[in-house]
Amino acid sequence: MKRWALFLVLLLVIAALLWHLLRGEAATALNTAESAPVFEMRSTPMRLQSSDECAACHSEVFSEWRDSWHSKAYTDPEVQGLSRGFQDKDCLPCHLPRPVLETGLSQRPLERDRRHDDGVDCFTCHFAPEAASMIGRGPLGAAARSAPCQPQESAVISSLGLCAPCHNQHKVHEEWKQTSYALPGAGFKDCNDCHMPEVLRAGGRRGRSHRYPAGHDATILRSAASFKVERIEDGVLHVRVSNTGSGHNLPTDERHRAVDLEATFIGVDGSRVSRRVDRYRNPYRTEFELRNPLRSVGATRDYEIALGALGSLEVHVQRVAPEGHPLQSIIAYPESTQIPAGEARDYRVILPPSVVSAEFRLYYRTQPFQADNEAVLLHEGSVHAR
Ligand code: HEC
Ligand code: HEC
Ligand code: HEC
Ligand code: HEC
Ligand code: HEC
Repeated sequence: MKRWALFLVLLLVIAALLWHLLRGEAATALNTAESAPVFEMRSTPMRLQSSDECAACHSEVFSEWRDSWHSKAYTDPEVQGLSRGFQDKDCLPCHLPRPVLETGLSQRPLERDRRHDDGVDCFTCHFAPEAASMIGRGPLGAAARSAPCQPQESAVISSLGLCAPCHNQHKVHEEWKQTSYALPGAGFKDCNDCHMPEVLRAGGRRGRSHRYPAGHDATILRSAASFKVERIEDGVLHVRVSNTGSGHNLPTDERHRAVDLEATFIGVDGSRVSRRVDRYRNPYRTEFELRNPLRSVGATRDYEIALGALGSLEVHVQRVAPEGHPLQSIIAYPESTQIPAGEARDYRVILPPSVVSAEFRLYYRTQPFQADNEAVLLHEGSVHAR
């Protein structure tokens, strides 16, 4: 009898321990599928209907959002072109969405049929339909009680899960989860830490920028990569491209984006020959001929680039692991040559005797056919061959 009781107690203790452990793990994991949020129900429905109405009281947020690509998600000429003026209805749910909280954080939103000029609007992220409220991080002051947006505090607004219904389509969240930014501690940075930098609002309150700088912003783009070009011996160069500032693969999300390592080689006779040395990109599904030769960290590849009358050069490239980072980066799309956060590509370039110097440039293109003069020049460096 006594032994049975002891056994039962032991079993209970083990079960409790296990439960505690598993729960702890779940809490540190990505919170995309959080439990249903709890809101205070309002008896009066909210009267506000459009984002324009918010401008009167939230003028700074409103103008940042107007400048952002969220507000242009429907009117964006690139999207209009590809969707044939949204004849392709599958494109509507994320580019002209109804509130995310209407469908929940793990579902694709529904499409909206009005206010096309607003794209991803204030209601998309802030409106909690069941509570008839705009949710915010707070803390809210006394004026909140009589505000027509009926604001209330909810942790949901700051969760990664809010962005996932639209952005995890191309696995941005999965990429981020594998980086050192996702590990708890001093180095932790989530989407908003980089894409919603803190700003000071009128009246001295802390706010967060709604401009969402990313692929259309030269400053954040230049912070994404580091670049090094040096001569290591006579006729032999070392080039390194690293993803030191992006919280996920570089470039991330849209398959249109490309980062290119380009070079111009200058001959003894003064002639100049330009070539692409490498391209970092998640290719379109139809680009069957593309193959990613560097499938795992440490992998290498040797190739030659013909320079016409100047001869040809040899390239030896290696995929280098993130420094001091315990996780192994797995690229979700096997043919993708994107550079995961913290990783580098190391090049040893052996020049033919006819080349006296070389210039290297790293470009970011919003689509793979974009010309150099329209692309963003991230970094450049030149070096004498001998
Ligand atoms: C699951 C949500 C979702 C759906 C569905 C969706 N998109 Fe997008 N789209 C996004 C997100 C998120 C971005 C922003 C990512 C980025 O900028 O890299 C984006 C960006 C784009 C861009 C880049 C815009 C630019 O300024 O360069 C184009 C073009 C685009 N989408 C076209 C389409 C087309 C065409 C369809 C329908 C076939 C579609 N999208 C369906 C979420 C979606
Ligand atoms: C008549 C003025 C007024 C209008 C119009 C208005 N708001 Fe508000 N809003 C307020 C006030 C006042 C607060 C409370 C601010 C505080 O407590 O410091 C607030 C708070 C908020 C918060 C919470 C901010 C936080 O710090 O967490 C959000 C989100 C919000 N509003 C969104 C909206 C949206 C979206 C619209 C348009 C659909 C809108 N508001 C329209 C006055 C307004
Ligand atoms: C309802 C869908 C949706 C939600 C929710 C959403 N986004 Fe977006 N986001 C988009 C679309 C669509 C675009 C692309 C618009 C375009 O370029 O045409 C975009 C663009 C962006 C961009 C790129 C801007 C640029 O310059 O290209 C960033 C960064 C971004 N979103 C971050 C976030 C973050 C962080 C969150 C969560 C707080 C979030 N988004 C929530 C749909 C969404
Ligand atoms: C893509 C999602 C998204 C869209 C679109 C969006 N917000 Fe926000 N908003 C957020 C997030 C996320 C926060 C703050 C999170 C935090 O502080 O952790 C926020 C914070 C705020 C705040 C309080 C902080 C501050 O900067 O003053 C206000 C007020 C606000 N939003 C109003 C609006 C209004 C008005 C619009 C439309 C003009 C809008 N938001 C559009 C996601 C969004
Ligand atoms: C450490 C900073 C950092 C973190 C954390 C981060 N990002 Fe980024 N993000 C960047 C930089 C830098 C770029 C531009 C270069 C690139 O594409 O990687 C970028 C680009 C993007 C783009 C591409 C926009 C375009 O026009 O193609 C999207 C979308 C985006 N981030 C969304 C997210 C989401 C969602 C999260 C969270 C899961 C996140 N980011 C976390 C720094 C960060």
